[in-house]
Amino acid sequence: MTAPPPDGGARVGALHVREKGREADMTKGKNSAGGRGGAAGEAAGELVVSGGTIVTASDTFAADLLVRGGKIAQIAGKVEPPPGAEVIDAAGLEVYPGGVDVHTHFDLPFMGSVSADDFESGTRAAACGGTTTIVDFVIPEKGKSIIDAVEKWHGKAAGKCAVDYGFHVALVDFNERVASEVREVVREGITSFKCFLAYKGSLMVDDAQLIGVLETAREQGALVSLHAENGDVIDYMTAGLLRDGKTGPQFHAVAHPDVAEGEATHRAAALARLVGAPIYIVHMSCTEALEEVRAARDMGQLVLAETCPQYLLLDDSLYRRKGFEPAKWVMSPPLRDAANQEELWCGLRDGYVQAVATDHCSFNFAGQKEMGKDSFARIPNGIPGVGDRMALLYTYGVGKGRLTKNQFAAVTAANPAKIFGLYPEKGAIAVGSDADLVLVDPARKGKVSKETSHHRVDYSAFEGMALEGMPAVVVARGAVVARDGTFLGAGDRGRYLRRKRFDPAAWGF
Ligand code: URP
Ligand code: ZN
Ligand code: ZN
Repeated sequence: MTAPPPDGGARVGALHVREKGREADMTKGKNSAGGRGGAAGEAAGELVVSGGTIVTASDTFAADLLVRGGKIAQIAGKVEPPPGAEVIDAAGLEVYPGGVDVHTHFDLPFMGSVSADDFESGTRAAACGGTTTIVDFVIPEKGKSIIDAVEKWHGKAAGKCAVDYGFHVALVDFNERVASEVREVVREGITSFKCFLAYKGSLMVDDAQLIGVLETAREQGALVSLHAENGDVIDYMTAGLLRDGKTGPQFHAVAHPDVAEGEATHRAAALARLVGAPIYIVHMSCTEALEEVRAARDMGQLVLAETCPQYLLLDDSLYRRKGFEPAKWVMSPPLRDAANQEELWCGLRDGYVQAVATDHCSFNFAGQKEMGKDSFARIPNGIPGVGDRMALLYTYGVGKGRLTKNQFAAVTAANPAKIFGLYPEKGAIAVGSDADLVLVDPARKGKVSKETSHHRVDYSAFEGMALEGMPAVVVARGAVVARDGTFLGAGDRGRYLRRKRFDPAAWGF
């Protein structure tokens, strides 16, 4: 390893010492007890899930599950409950691996504000919605230590998480010091990084920096995620619109055209090819970007992609709502023409898009989105969704015949867990896996509403959408954490997850 510079050395050592033995360690094929987060080590009692239909990414079968010490201990046609065990009657329910949402922004300082959901409200909402693992983005300030930023994020999350959590780190610049810190955090179980090709002047990296990140990550067996939008195109479009007095929230989408996403996706794939690095495109919104992913993949490159419920289910007609309301859906990339949606569903079905994450980054309409009343460029970007993902995907994916039940399990849990070094502890239903389960009642109906949401934000991006097939019971490491949308867990039981390095073999490379 390259020796860390003198100023970084003390911090690097401190991170290592403070974390040792205090987290769930995916890198050793077992989870160590303890961890950052209050009651994190507390083991749940025995539990039997009886009479359900188990659905994983690969199989569907009727079986009972015995859960002991937070892990799946037995899978059998019939399990006799041990004395004192809690029994969940899962007759008529489908038992899926607990959801894994690998894209959240809790308690994030961003665009002059701080995202409304923190790790407490965000992970409770996740639990109630059937998501039992989240991976959040540490975003350091330019020029500042990423080790310090990771420590800051530990401070935000420790003792406040209802479900297990991990971190990616965003790299907003690149030099020898950053490279040295990257090597250190990878050894500590943070095995994925994000680069922004948008947000020029704050988070954006240039091509030279991206090449450095890709090369360093490849050497370390880490994965680089890309926010693929061309920041120069966005700045050019924004300046022109504002010059013409087009300041309203609807113009955010005009400033972020498909071509900016397609170009950045192409460039990211090209630079990744140059250095032989795998990449993962986050929050992909449009056909133009998907075509670039397909082209790269068909050339034999390891390019993986994520989309989000908003790009599958919402469209740019929301920007035609009156007044300032379109600000609720100001996010980057923006919502697209509805024609893009079926293409993205198709990408999920045919395996070019492997994961559905939320990019949950909530800002209140009152007081936060309103910061951009005079200019769309000042509206904090992002929407809520961590609590809505599983029911939306089930209703509009499985329910509408766009995804099989196994594909639902793959894109909501197994694939994201595999991509980000959490499988098979997470994302699987197998002996030895963490007992993270979501029992879906396929007949249960409801609708998305701010009134029933556990998000700490004053609107729902999916308000009024009908649901059919909702989480009835959610189990996290062997403990029931939610029933019928009511939180029953402990707010501090989530453990910090040290993740394995990226495994190209899982994708046939
Ligand atoms: O609009 C978005 N996506 N906000 C969150 C930050 C990001 O770019 O992922
Ligand atoms: Zn992004
Ligand atoms: Zn994001």
